[in-house]
Amino acid sequence: MSDVLVIGGGVIGCGIAHALTTRGAEVTLVDPGTVGGGASRASAGMLAPFSEGRHHLALQALGALSLSRYDALVHALVDEGWRVPYTRTGSIEVAFDAAGATALDGVAAALARDRIACERLDRPSLLALEPAVSTDAVAGLRILAHGAVDVPALVSALWRSAASRGARLVQSRAHRISSTTSEVRVDTGVGSFKASRVVLAAGCWAGQVDVDGVAPLPVQPVRGQLLALRTESPALDHTLWGPDCYLVPWADGTMLVGATVEHVGFDQRATAAGVRQLLQAATALLPPVADAAFLEVRVGLRPATLDELPIVGASQRVDGLIYATGHYRNGALLMPLTAEAVAELVGGTPLDPIWAPCDPQRFGSY
Ligand code: GLY
Repeated sequence: MSDVLVIGGGVIGCGIAHALTTRGAEVTLVDPGTVGGGASRASAGMLAPFSEGRHHLALQALGALSLSRYDALVHALVDEGWRVPYTRTGSIEVAFDAAGATALDGVAAALARDRIACERLDRPSLLALEPAVSTDAVAGLRILAHGAVDVPALVSALWRSAASRGARLVQSRAHRISSTTSEVRVDTGVGSFKASRVVLAAGCWAGQVDVDGVAPLPVQPVRGQLLALRTESPALDHTLWGPDCYLVPWADGTMLVGATVEHVGFDQRATAAGVRQLLQAATALLPPVADAAFLEVRVGLRPATLDELPIVGASQRVDGLIYATGHYRNGALLMPLTAEAVAELVGGTPLDPIWAPCDPQRFGSY
């Protein structure tokens, strides 16, 4: 297989590097920071297409298909000896008033029509499943297929697996992509590289890479702050969605609380207001959070597009360039399917029609 240069060392770029190296490609990854050090580090790793994709059927379909790839991917990484915490214990959405409970009825009916396993919970059955939830809760909706993955561990495993098959890292910023007659050239802070294919997977920085004669990709940063707390023992069995935050529990007592959604440009600071907002929402949903140890706040810039769908597909303007960015709130969820799609494109197989809504051309001549 040909040589490929991947720009961006987040969950998408590392997933692509992994998929390509398992198919025998020679891969170079270009990233100015540490692998997995951007938005991926601040991802709670929720794998929840039937909640996150509810407003967008195309996103839900992509998410559900990508989720179906997770077991095999994680098992393959674990079999190689990498540590990837991963659960499929389901999620529960919690309502605190009659309007919220009615909304859950509608969601439950829609999921049942699509044969997605779910359980509408009244208050006693909610509290029986999750006794630490606030007694102000009135109803819940349990979605059994949902899960979570430890994203920093996943990215590290993907990258180390790819590196064990020869992938190499160039720690620099990619400035410019241009085509020559037979190859694609990438100019970085440490020199120029040529490859037969280049994958632009630079998240919210994708629009800052100058692509020969092409308008900047319309990907905008949306800041997310995420808290890591620790309780003596796990306070929850399920990922919990409340009206103003979500909670992802891990077996060691770590609990992730996410996430703010802030349009503040490339500002990557954690803020007092962000931390306060998340702590208030989390304690309202799960009162024992007040007694949890505060471990850290993580900050990431999600790559958002105008329609909140990713940009995945081949460039019509630069031969050999493939876009794989703009995954906004669903990078971890959509990674396996994105990586598979890009690896197939590199190998000459056109994208499955499920990707049509993510065509780069919907935003102009790319
Ligand atoms: N996927 C959850 C978030 O972006 O906050």
